[in-house]
Amino acid sequence: MIHAHHITKSYRTALRRVSRKVLDQLTLDVSAGERIAIMGPSGSGKTTLLNLLSSIDTPDEGTIVVDGVTLGGMSQQEILRYRNHQVGFVFQFHRLLPQCTLWENVLLPTLADGKPSAETLDRGQALLERLGIAGVQHQFPGELSGGECQRAAVARALINAPKVLLADEPTGSLDRANAFNLMELLITLQAETGITMVTATHSHEIAQMMQKTYTLTDGKLTL
Ligand SMILES: Nc1ncnc2c1ncn2[C@@H]1O[C@H](COP(=O)(O)OP(=O)(O)OP(=O)(O)O)[C@@H](O)[C@H]1O
Ligand SMILES: [Mg+2]
Repeated sequence: MIHAHHITKSYRTALRRVSRKVLDQLTLDVSAGERIAIMGPSGSGKTTLLNLLSSIDTPDEGTIVVDGVTLGGMSQQEILRYRNHQVGFVFQFHRLLPQCTLWENVLLPTLADGKPSAETLDRGQALLERLGIAGVQHQFPGELSGGECQRAAVARALINAPKVLLADEPTGSLDRANAFNLMELLITLQAETGITMVTATHSHEIAQMMQKTYTLTDGKLTL
């Protein structure tokens, strides 16, 4: 499902003008329906890797194929389709729009296609139920707890039934009990939908909930 081969990515710092290789000939293959964790020290390149997989950023070298789509060289329309339909993202902070209700936020990835279908609306409502936030869906993020907002971010990531879920410290802003709870829910949803899941995390507890844990050090992944 995910094939990232010989990926190299360097950043040049504005101040020092030196280039630092964050990912160095990294290779990652993830099968369909698999859920994996990526651990590694702060600054090791976990977010960088997820940004490449989500086509937010491009590698200097290497090829990335996700769900049959070769990233790089896509048209604007193909990129939009990829980001809205094939992959879902959850970040450490929910990044909900404060001026929209939870329900409106959940529907954001559907807007590019015009009016959401009845099937999409049903899926969204079912997700809100499963995530325990149906009762607060007409409230605004500012009126809700961090945990509730993060649940809405999960619903937003899954609204278009993507094949791949990329999560960058998805529970990093939650307390331990809330984090564990949300991960359990995510894994139940993952098992039901068969979505492929890549989670960057600092938590061994969360990594243990995945089927495989890779460690990112010196620009490479090891099992
Ligand atoms: N846009 C950028 N410009 C320059 N350097 C960057 C940029 N993005 C990331 N870096 C550098 O790349 C390295 C890897 O960063 P990254 O955010 O991928 O690490 P991480 O493993 O996600 O860390 P954390 O666990 O703290 O989230 C860091 O040294 C960071 O400073
Ligand atoms: Mg990070």
